Amino acid sequence: MSNSCKKAYITTPIYYVNDIAHIGHAYTTIIADTIARYSRMSGLDTFFLTGTDEHGQKIEESAKIRGKSAQEYADEISATFKDLWDDFGISYDKFIRTTDAEHIIGVQKAFDVMYDNGDIYKDVYKGHYCISCETFFPVSQLVDDEFCPECGKSTTIVEEESYFFRLSAYEDKLLAWYNENPNCILPKNKRNEVIRFVEGGLEDLSITRTSFDWGVKLPENLGDPKHVMYVWLDALMNYVTALGYGTDEANMDFWPARVHLIGKDILRFHAIYWPAFLMSLDLPMPKHIAAHGWWTRDGEKMSKSKGNVVNPREVADAYGLDNFRYFMLREVPFGGDGDFSQKALIDRINSDLGNDLGNLLNRLIGMSGKYFEGKVDSSNAAKYYQAELDEVQASLDKLEPLLFDMQIHKYLEELWRPLTVANKAIDKYQPWTLMKEGKEEEAMALNGLIAAILAKVSVMLYPVMPEICTKISEALAFTIDNASWNSLIKEKKLLDTFTIEKIPPLFPRIEEPLLEQAEPEDTNLSTGSVKSDKDTKATVAEPAKSKEEGIALIGIDQFFQTSLKVGTVIKAEEVPKSKKLLLLQVDIGEAQPRQIVAGIKEWYSANEMLGTQVCVVANLKPAKLMGLTSEGMLLAAKDENGLCMIRPEKPKTAGTPIS
Ligand code: MSP
Repeated sequence: MSNSCKKAYITTPIYYVNDIAHIGHAYTTIIADTIARYSRMSGLDTFFLTGTDEHGQKIEESAKIRGKSAQEYADEISATFKDLWDDFGISYDKFIRTTDAEHIIGVQKAFDVMYDNGDIYKDVYKGHYCISCETFFPVSQLVDDEFCPECGKSTTIVEEESYFFRLSAYEDKLLAWYNENPNCILPKNKRNEVIRFVEGGLEDLSITRTSFDWGVKLPENLGDPKHVMYVWLDALMNYVTALGYGTDEANMDFWPARVHLIGKDILRFHAIYWPAFLMSLDLPMPKHIAAHGWWTRDGEKMSKSKGNVVNPREVADAYGLDNFRYFMLREVPFGGDGDFSQKALIDRINSDLGNDLGNLLNRLIGMSGKYFEGKVDSSNAAKYYQAELDEVQASLDKLEPLLFDMQIHKYLEELWRPLTVANKAIDKYQPWTLMKEGKEEEAMALNGLIAAILAKVSVMLYPVMPEICTKISEALAFTIDNASWNSLIKEKKLLDTFTIEKIPPLFPRIEEPLLEQAEPEDTNLSTGSVKSDKDTKATVAEPAKSKEEGIALIGIDQFFQTSLKVGTVIKAEEVPKSKKLLLLQVDIGEAQPRQIVAGIKEWYSANEMLGTQVCVVANLKPAKLMGLTSEGMLLAAKDENGLCMIRPEKPKTAGTPIS
């Protein structure tokens, strides 16, 4: 993908509102944010879209289970996505919801256009439908003639009147598009998969349903009010309705998208259905559809029941948002699957970030302070260190194409070469020796070289680590923007003379995991974390399940293995930098109070907790959270209205057992 057009429209998938955001969602969004930030910095007129996908049977059912209207439920979960992206500083230009009035009008308009040009007809659909995946499957694709090939859940046989989209008519046109645009689907091997699938033949697509209500109605002029649109037709259209398609058309000049960022599981919808819909609407094709791989946790598929879903907010709170962003983008080749482990994350922070980047800045601050009272002057850098500057520039020149080809891990790998050049230059030329030998000009030039390298690297790293790179640029007395990108990267200039600002180390060394204890989501009150302890799990026998609720049954002796005690909170304070955690000292009748780190700050202030009684799980293995040891867990109950502590009804002596 070349940076030659003036506009850049970048999208994420719109997220289903039947679940809260996890690392997979964060990954897609952070990649898109990185591309959007780079696009803006390099002077492209950029529009970055994200949002939520709110219609369909799955959402309708999830809402019903919780006793809510679908709209109420969608409002609630959509807000949690928006809040997370806002807290993460995601630089989106629009957050679309498929329940937005403009979106609904746009989808209906598109339906009309496709109907008028003969691509939609009415018939009867009989087939197997997976509610969980919101997809019809031919029997040939089912497992044991019944189960969904994607998620393994039982499918439902649906026989109903339906409108169909003539997908089969687009087979040749789609194949021509793939063939004429070798980079339309990234990574390239995914394009081959799609081609093989389309060559196998396409059936027409059922695009309306009559068995539920929660969806976009057909245009009124069709006079068929019992039909609602297929969620994927509704959802895919968001990419153009967000720009005003069918309403004010205000931003339609951003179309076609430069890149639709998606996960590999939704490639078929984006690489087959979406281009076919666009062809039918006579709209241009997106430039790229880029499909990333799947994240697992410590080698296992993440699932709520295993309690091993990685919560991005908690990882970012514990390890730093920029560090988390760097890790996800550096650790996994785009398109490949990735595994989240705290060890891998800590290694990246200590090694790449701490040793290579942070340490270089410290060395520069040290040298400038010791020899030149903080002054840095690059004017003689080229005179003494042209070879190093050439090597650095050769790496920088390779970067932009790597980013726009979605080879972000290689982009970061290449971006680290200048840091190696800089660190090696200090070791080789030894400023302390130069100063001893009276070669002050050379030593200052070396200082200037290092500062220039750090400045260039921080500009190009900014889209991945905006907060950290802003701090580096402030220390180096410049601002990261289109002007500095032009000057330092495109025009290959060095920094003007400046006085360096001493700043605290950017990447303090991390010695041990900061998120530890295993608790299934929603009961993780002592830790605020969501990981599972593999060792503990391995030793526990598979428990029996109660029929109605799928809850594991245990014997009374197993229950009594848990020591529960009444405790009195004798000290309560906030954990610095944490949005969730309070640090409590709880008297449970022992010689010393227990220190408990509790994820309850969203619902209780430190003051409200002070002096109150709580129920404590007293025999949990200690865990560390944000570097603080937690020696127990508090009992609480949480539902959609929030969380409340479980407390004794009347005051009880601290340490009283609960049984
Ligand atoms: N609503 C549809 C998308 C419609 S776009 C017009 C949808 N939503 S989703 O919430 O289920 O998934 C959104 C994105 O999250 C997808 O790109 C999916 O690949 C990604 N991920 C969900 N779980 C994931 C992992 N465990 N790992 C990586 N990404 C994963 O699909």
